[in-house]
Amino acid sequence: MEQTNKYQRSIDRLNDALGKEISTTLQYLYFHTIFEDAGYEYLATLMRRISIAEMQHIEHIAERILFLQGRVDMNPSFRTIQVDGVREALELTCSLEQSTIDTYNEYSRLCSGEDDTITHRMFQDMSAEEERHLDTFRTELQNMIDYGAQYLALQSVAHSRNVAKSSKKEE
Ligand SMILES: [Fe+2]
Ligand SMILES: [Fe+2]
Repeated sequence: MEQTNKYQRSIDRLNDALGKEISTTLQYLYFHTIFEDAGYEYLATLMRRISIAEMQHIEHIAERILFLQGRVDMNPSFRTIQVDGVREALELTCSLEQSTIDTYNEYSRLCSGEDDTITHRMFQDMSAEEERHLDTFRTELQNMIDYGAQYLALQSVAHSRNVAKSSKKEE
């Protein structure tokens, strides 16, 4: 009979979080590529930056699972959603962050009740980071709602300016 791991519940929660982080990383990377293609410079960079932050969560969570002597289930929890409107994309990022925050708060509380203080703190720290992501996405969503076409036009201007600058450098 396989020996039971006293941290199994923490390991299951960590694996669930791992799946969410993998899917979120890919979702944001997808937004990065489509926004870059559309010439929305700032949004494309933002998506890339936050995608990398989520990827670092993957690494961090996997390391914790291994430390607890669990198995790492390195699989996405959902397939990338092919949304391509800026407003719809930002709405999706806000709801993803909010649901991750809710989950991590709950997991943090449960791990604390089971005396796994390190995993408890890890979920707490990640939740704080997801709140910062949510704050950033909310600001962009609000800008998009308030300024719409103007907001997008400004991004395209910034993009053209950068293209002009870099082609000048190459001359
Ligand atoms: Fe994350
Ligand atoms: Fe996040």
